[in-house]
Amino acid sequence: MLRFAVTLFAVITSSTCKKYSCLEGETHKLKPSPEPNMQECTLYSESSCCYANFTEQLAHSPVIKINNSYWNRCGQLSKSCEDFTKKIECFYRCSPHAAHWIHPNYTAGIQSVPLCQSFCDDWYEACKDDSACVRNWLMDWEWDESGVNHCKNECIPYSEMYVNGTDMCQSMWGESFKVSESSCLCLQMNKKDMMAIKYLLSESSEESSSVSSSEERACQKKLLKFEKLKEEEGGETR
Ligand SMILES: *[C@@H]1O[C@H](CO)[C@@H](O)[C@H](O)[C@H]1NC(C)=O
Ligand SMILES: *[C@@H]1O[C@H](CO)[C@@H](O)[C@H](O)[C@H]1NC(C)=O
Ligand SMILES: *[C@@H]1O[C@H](CO)[C@@H](O)[C@H](O)[C@H]1NC(C)=O
Ligand SMILES: *[C@@H]1O[C@H](CO)[C@@H](O)[C@H](O)[C@H]1NC(C)=O
Repeated sequence: MLRFAVTLFAVITSSTCKKYSCLEGETHKLKPSPEPNMQECTLYSESSCCYANFTEQLAHSPVIKINNSYWNRCGQLSKSCEDFTKKIECFYRCSPHAAHWIHPNYTAGIQSVPLCQSFCDDWYEACKDDSACVRNWLMDWEWDESGVNHCKNECIPYSEMYVNGTDMCQSMWGESFKVSESSCLCLQMNKKDMMAIKYLLSESSEESSSVSSSEERACQKKLLKFEKLKEEEGGETR
């Protein structure tokens, strides 16, 4: 009975607090909160689903492994490729918005997070001379008893593993990401995401899977303004 009450309570709170909750992975917090002492993933430091100590593993290049998952099975990733891989890891572990795209059957996972075409193309370019032995980094490993990942197949260059950036983004992490048709209502794992997120989380985009053209226009306008502002500040936008 107590267990039932607890479960019911959990269901009620998780549905009412849905907007603010985190994914249910092993490193995720229950709710996002500020993490002023993050070493990496600082894009999310104001509201983070990971603890600052999680990011210690990402702070030293080359990153060898995250928990038991080794990144260097086909040799050390190049710095540029590692940087992109980190951005994805940070989004998954730390973004307070990742849970918006929670996988319906697997609450530690995400599904169809819209990435920008340019982000995927740049990522592909950054990794094309690196090698990999798995096409799907969630599914294709051989996992040993202690949960450590090993290659089942030969290492081949990313450029052979994936046809292009779209193919890479849409297969490397299973169903987690899709490439957006919009160049604005999509994520690129930098400060511009705040603009896109505002529209992506709005109710109208929840009702229809394709985003309306007025939202697209509004987003483009906002982005332009943001870029102008950054230019005046002389700040970095990427
Ligand atoms: C990270 O920090 C959190 C909160 O401060 C703590 O609960 C957790 O045990 C820490 N994890 C590790 C691996 O140190
Ligand atoms: C991964 O690390 C977190 C703490 O950082 C720990 O709680 C969790 O059990 C670890 N998972 C595995 C599979 O080692
Ligand atoms: C979730 O599981 C159901 C039942 O097994 C299946 O029909 C559905 O396709 C799954 N959804 C996704 C997105 O994988
Ligand atoms: C990427 O490759 C796929 C599969 O060959 C192709 O359909 C798609 O048009 C390509 N995309 C780009 C942007 O080149």
